Amino acid sequence: MQGVARQFFILGIVLGIVGMMLGISMAMSHDHLEMPVHAHTMVVGWLMSAVFGFFYHMFPVARQNKLASIHFWLHAVGIVVLVVSLYFVIAGNEAMEPITAISSLMVFAGLLLFAWIAIPIINKA
Ligand code: HEM
Ligand code: HEM
Repeated sequence: MQGVARQFFILGIVLGIVGMMLGISMAMSHDHLEMPVHAHTMVVGWLMSAVFGFFYHMFPVARQNKLASIHFWLHAVGIVVLVVSLYFVIAGNEAMEPITAISSLMVFAGLLLFAWIAIPIINKA
């Protein structure tokens, strides 16, 4: 894998490891309070990053688009800040909530940018 495809896949693997460690700790402690952090680390952090990685791997024209790197950073910074800040919000630090909100909008902006990059390519493929 090259370029942004590789970056997305590595991000996904790292977040998958972190998310599973949280899942195991939840299961061991019987304390599922942080389930939304585990769930979003796994599905948005691991699964979505892996899907983006496969897409950019399959379509070199997509990863050559300069916007692809902006998509990666929106998704990477967005999901990491989202899950870390959400952890503290759930633990009782409600002052962190605006940070969670902004980071979730970054993840959303990344998906909109992906739509812009990917849909013309999908239509031609
Ligand atoms: C080491 C492996 C894993 C462990 C020990 C684990 C543990 C857990 C636990 C304890 C819960 C809370 C269940 C509840 O309170 O109802 C949970 C929920 C969840 N997990 Fe995991 N998990 C693991 C792997 C995964 C993986 C690989 C994914 C996805 C790729 C995933 C996605 C989710 C989701 C989406 C939820 C929320 C489910 C719901 O809404 O009811 N987990 N997990
Ligand atoms: C980044 C924007 C997103 C926001 C702001 C968001 C917000 C939420 C909220 C408020 C809940 C309910 C949590 C609860 O009742 O405790 C939830 C649950 C869930 N979301 Fe998201 N979500 C986002 C993205 C996604 C995406 C992209 C996926 C799938 C790829 C996803 C998968 C899930 C799942 C599986 C649950 C059920 C597990 C749980 O309750 O934590 N979310 N989300």
